[in-house]
Amino acid sequence: MARITEQTIEQIRSIADIQDVIGRYVQLKKRGKNWFAPCPFHNEKTGSFSVSPERQMYKCFGCGVGGSVINFIQKIENLEFVDSLKFLAEMYNIKIQWDGNPNLNQNLTQQLYEIHDIAWDFYRESLKKSKKNQQYLLNDRKLSIDTIRTFQLGVSPNNWQGLLDILKDKKFSSDAIKESGLIISGEKGYFDRFRNRIMFSLANEMSKIIGFAGRSLDPNDNAKYMNSPESPIYHKSNFLYGLNKSKNYIPKKDQALVVEGYLDYLQLYQHGFNNGVAVSGTAFTQQHARKLKRYTENIVLVFDGDSAGIKAAIRSGYVLALEGVSPKIIEMPEGLDPDDMMVKGMQKDFENLLQNARPLIEFHFTHFEGGTGSTQQLNAFARESILEISRVNDPIFRELLIRELADVSKFREENLYEKLSLLTKRNQNRLAKIPIKKTETIVKIDKSRRDKIEEEITQLCFVEDAEIRTLLYDNIQSDWFKNTHTKHIFDNVFIHLHGEITPDANVVMDGLNEIDRNKLSELIFELDEKKPTLKLAKDCITVFETLDLKSKLNMKREELNNQPSSSNVIKILKQISEIQSQIKEIKTKYN
Ligand code: CTP
Ligand code: MN
Repeated sequence: MARITEQTIEQIRSIADIQDVIGRYVQLKKRGKNWFAPCPFHNEKTGSFSVSPERQMYKCFGCGVGGSVINFIQKIENLEFVDSLKFLAEMYNIKIQWDGNPNLNQNLTQQLYEIHDIAWDFYRESLKKSKKNQQYLLNDRKLSIDTIRTFQLGVSPNNWQGLLDILKDKKFSSDAIKESGLIISGEKGYFDRFRNRIMFSLANEMSKIIGFAGRSLDPNDNAKYMNSPESPIYHKSNFLYGLNKSKNYIPKKDQALVVEGYLDYLQLYQHGFNNGVAVSGTAFTQQHARKLKRYTENIVLVFDGDSAGIKAAIRSGYVLALEGVSPKIIEMPEGLDPDDMMVKGMQKDFENLLQNARPLIEFHFTHFEGGTGSTQQLNAFARESILEISRVNDPIFRELLIRELADVSKFREENLYEKLSLLTKRNQNRLAKIPIKKTETIVKIDKSRRDKIEEEITQLCFVEDAEIRTLLYDNIQSDWFKNTHTKHIFDNVFIHLHGEITPDANVVMDGLNEIDRNKLSELIFELDEKKPTLKLAKDCITVFETLDLKSKLNMKREELNNQPSSSNVIKILKQISEIQSQIKEIKTKYN
């Protein structure tokens, strides 16, 4: 496996400034020496999310997440560590250098982008060559030349190896070709996935093509649509078609339209409704919601008017609600999709539908499956909607939704709350039944006090004062830590302790899992408020070592209680007195 060199990682860290990167996702406001924003990872209106340019770290004091610029990209783009490095390198035009065998596996991502560019060339050329297919797009589907160009539409020809032949001539690794998903290996060898289809280029927010969707040109084809499979560069669950273009208009209009189909999106865009996005070949996910929410809070769902579309709209609506967004839903006339409306010249009608989009709860009420005419049906509706609302974390937003529910259903708010608390209680009871592991009896020392001191010691590892760090390096033992998070952090920072340079928390984080990273960023942000002295460090070490000795003492005492043979008793008693004298000496040990 080739690896990204340390130098490249260092370069990315120094160029991809955290304030600049995060500023592309949220609006940062300066307070003191740090920058703040509403957290993009949990639903809040206040700005608990803090970015420290000095430390090059972020931390949310609401939900606890935190880390380096690389971790931020990992989380917000849902990428692995290496992929987020590539993502940042791409963003800042940094050339990645690889360790190990550079030909093998060499920047798979880069190759994947290239393969998609070449495929796009191929599909464009094929469209150029086919008058018939051009006629189909222009006349039958009423797409303009401009739209076809802007959105990089093409055609995959009706043969089995057109793309394969081109890719074979280039020097791509077989891995890259396989991972691209554009070539399939079957019993009779390799062949093109997309044949005889209109090709929609799937471009990410940086307008790089990361996949394709193909609509069959042959009406007898069983699969009307075919999409690229997931790959290292294409993740359906957070991909929104058209966002690379619409993101320029969504903030201006302060509204986003979510549609179901590529053609719906394109026709709307072509007719000035340029603030849309389409999900591609999947349901609307929480990641989609989070992504879209960065651009606007006013989201309108434009799904088909048939029962499947209505169901999908309600489901997607509640997904948005979990993210604190209260979407509206358009009442589409049955049998028409936005594409049809645009083609039929019904722009005014669509504008009207848009104006009259209904709030989620109201839409749910009107379209509750089976109706809300009888008491029984009403009750079933209340149950279903309250269950959805109970999943919303933010109590204020929950209250708003309950109010809406009371409004449309005419149930009294207090009854809805009672039902809500019944449903949540039942959930909690279910959780409460999961047995909790008995805590160890051996460590009798107050846990919160121990955690506190472990945290302080961990913090001290990151101070500028080299004398303090050397003191830690020489005296602290990893097995004194009982809390796994602080222990992990300590183990990772340990080798940096005796160096001249202050350990970089960002570097240490690379070796940590997410929970440990969150802890570390919390500690680092806290450390910035303090000015630890050597004296304080000595006190901390003294307390920490004493705690360790005391827990050893307790263990020995327990051993003694369970000890039937007398020869062992003497041995243990000796050990106990030894620990006791160590405890006595410790008061003067560091002074
Ligand atoms: N879709 C898909 N796979 C399918 C069918 C549909 O991924 N087998 C997705 C596509 O993103 C498609 C959307 O669902 O754009 C809507 O599908 P549908 O309404 O069937 O197609 P239209 O977009 O209306 O296409 P057309 O007008 O060409 O029939
Ligand atoms: Mn259609």
